[in-house]
Amino acid sequence: MANVRLVNLTKQYKRGAEVIHALDDVTLDIEKGEFVAVVGRSGSGKTTMLDLMGLLLRPTSGSLFIDDIDTSKLGDRQLAQMRARRVGFVFQEYNLLSGLNVLENVMLPLRYVKDGRKRGAPRAVELIERVGLSDRVRHRPTELSGGQAQRVAIARSMVNSPSLILLDEPTGAVDTETAQQLVDLLKRLNQEDRVTIVIVTHDLDIAGQASRQIRLKDGRVLTDERVGAAGAGSLGVPVA
Ligand SMILES: Nc1ncnc2c1ncn2[C@@H]1O[C@H](COP(=O)(O)OP(=O)(O)O)[C@@H](O)[C@H]1O
Ligand SMILES: [Mg+2]
Repeated sequence: MANVRLVNLTKQYKRGAEVIHALDDVTLDIEKGEFVAVVGRSGSGKTTMLDLMGLLLRPTSGSLFIDDIDTSKLGDRQLAQMRARRVGFVFQEYNLLSGLNVLENVMLPLRYVKDGRKRGAPRAVELIERVGLSDRVRHRPTELSGGQAQRVAIARSMVNSPSLILLDEPTGAVDTETAQQLVDLLKRLNQEDRVTIVIVTHDLDIAGQASRQIRLKDGRVLTDERVGAAGAGSLGVPVA
């Protein structure tokens, strides 16, 4: 069973008389537990593809399946439910709420699922520990470094135990060393929880550490390469 399945997935925008093919007839499967990097120039359709997979956008045509569920058959409420339960998001700008502390930020997505707060509080605390911020639980976002803020965003994205985490340029605002630490954290979460990770990145160093690289151009898949077992240190390959 594929975690995510895109079938002839297309998203078009109209700008005056012009039609922009932001995503153009893309068909591919992402299996549970994969660590996928999406690369390509600015404007190639990376964010569009990610937002479609995260149910933030409706496609113009084609189908998107999440865990074998055809999302085109879902109404707005069901889509919102599915997004809350099965998908986690991380953006370049962290998007933390400045009026809430670290714990409250991580617990935020629990509001959108039934009995979330009751069941989720221990999970939030555990995740904060796993991202290495146990000593920052009561801190506000303004008191954190960029790397720490992004760790909070990663913990938040996982609090409802989604099957899929989508990250759009998550290391775009931090230095190289911090970026690598974030990637190391993602690798750990990917291996320990078997959560599927799809990361959009400009950084070829980071993309090279994924188990699969999808390169977009003009809304189409230019290349789609899985790294073989020979790729030392590659992800998505069972570790002994
Ligand atoms: N809301 C929108 N309205 C019109 N055009 C859009 C919109 N969002 C994206 N586009 C266009 O779709 C194409 C793909 O954009 P995007 O998915 O953001 O690319 P990337 O993330 O790779 O930079 C670009 O040409 C962009 O200008
Ligand atoms: Mg983008």
